[in-house]
Amino acid sequence: MEPMNRAYPRDLVEDLNPAPRLLMGPGPINADPRVLRAMSAQLLGQFDPQFRDYMKQVSELYRGVFQTKNRWTLLVDGTARSAIEAALASLIEPGDRVLVPVFGRFGHLKVEIAKRYGAEVRAAEIEWGTVFAPEKLEAEIKSFRPKLVAISHGDTSTTMAQPLAELGRLCRAHDVLLYVDATATLGGMDLPVDAWELDVVSAGLQKCLAGPSGSAPLTLNERAEKVIFRRRHTEAGLRGKGEIEGEGPVIRSNYFDLAMIMDYWSDKALNHHTEATTMLYAARECARILLQEGPKNAFARHATASHALTAGLKAMGLRLFGDQAHKMANVTGVTIPDGVDGEKVRRALLQDFSIEIGTSFGPLHGRIWRIGTMGYNARADAVLATLGALDAVLAAEKFKLPRGAGVDAALAAYRAG
Ligand SMILES: Cc1ncc(COP(=O)(O)O)c(C=O)c1O
Repeated sequence: MEPMNRAYPRDLVEDLNPAPRLLMGPGPINADPRVLRAMSAQLLGQFDPQFRDYMKQVSELYRGVFQTKNRWTLLVDGTARSAIEAALASLIEPGDRVLVPVFGRFGHLKVEIAKRYGAEVRAAEIEWGTVFAPEKLEAEIKSFRPKLVAISHGDTSTTMAQPLAELGRLCRAHDVLLYVDATATLGGMDLPVDAWELDVVSAGLQKCLAGPSGSAPLTLNERAEKVIFRRRHTEAGLRGKGEIEGEGPVIRSNYFDLAMIMDYWSDKALNHHTEATTMLYAARECARILLQEGPKNAFARHATASHALTAGLKAMGLRLFGDQAHKMANVTGVTIPDGVDGEKVRRALLQDFSIEIGTSFGPLHGRIWRIGTMGYNARADAVLATLGALDAVLAAEKFKLPRGAGVDAALAAYRAG
């Protein structure tokens, strides 16, 4: 039959009507309804003065979120990985040495991207479920002498958060640039970019910022700006009088060329991509909501949810995964008990309770569940519903547990403040 006259199956042409899930995995989580509302606003042209004002507002709002004065605070259009790639593509010249401390899957991602851009990479690896001691990082920097250190703040695959308060100072002392992937922690854990002397930091919206994936906030300081603008290049079709070409090698990606993206976000408004209008509205609303709540209150809300969840899990007789002193505030790893089929439990939670929790990757696949309490879902009712559902599903799986103890313990933790 001609495609035009084809009768489409009913489900293909039905209204989109996603199930009302409670997303308690490692991200994405449910978006704040205010973010969804902002996303339904009408589009504007990308050079409309009102839209350019919104872009300026986004920069200013994210300076608040990142706790920075950095002029270059902008969005990369794409998921969190797009900003990681933009940062690495723009900082790394072929042959540069890059040190990547790997404490989970997202360290390996940075190794992979850095190699693609021609870096000589050293991956310093430690056991999943632990973090790096500062002395170990210092020893690696001294022996490898990298141009750049690229590290995750929180690695959702292991649920560990790497302490970073000292690393920026250390990198400056050795004249090394520092890139931090804060995809999983920005808005949920403290990350004062200027105070910790972090050169480039990026994130995504779909975790503690309570938005959808698809826009990646990024900030960079003057140290990084110098390295990036040395490689500034203007596309021939845009070049006017007075464009200054950098003397360094051209950045090997066009889409992820931060120099071009910066020229687009600056008052020059030099055309690059067409800004993803709806995602910019979402990103603006995510930042606005966080700043309205107050970052300190948001961090405390995440810490409280984590505390209540872990109290509940322990009361149910479950074991938490990894070094608890360095656990992320917004994701919790739980060891799947012997004799329990982890995937069956996840399926039952989804089918019977419409609650999603995560499994993990690589060496931890099938060994741990990951439960997120972040962004819009770092709430008492979401924590209690998840524990109650897990209680019922585990009991059905013949796991011996004191029924109701998980919810009681979490409720007690919340009541104790
Ligand atoms: C630490 C970290 N980095 C990067 C990513 C990749 O993010 P995205 O899927 O938005 O590209 C994730 C996603 O879970 C993450 O947790």
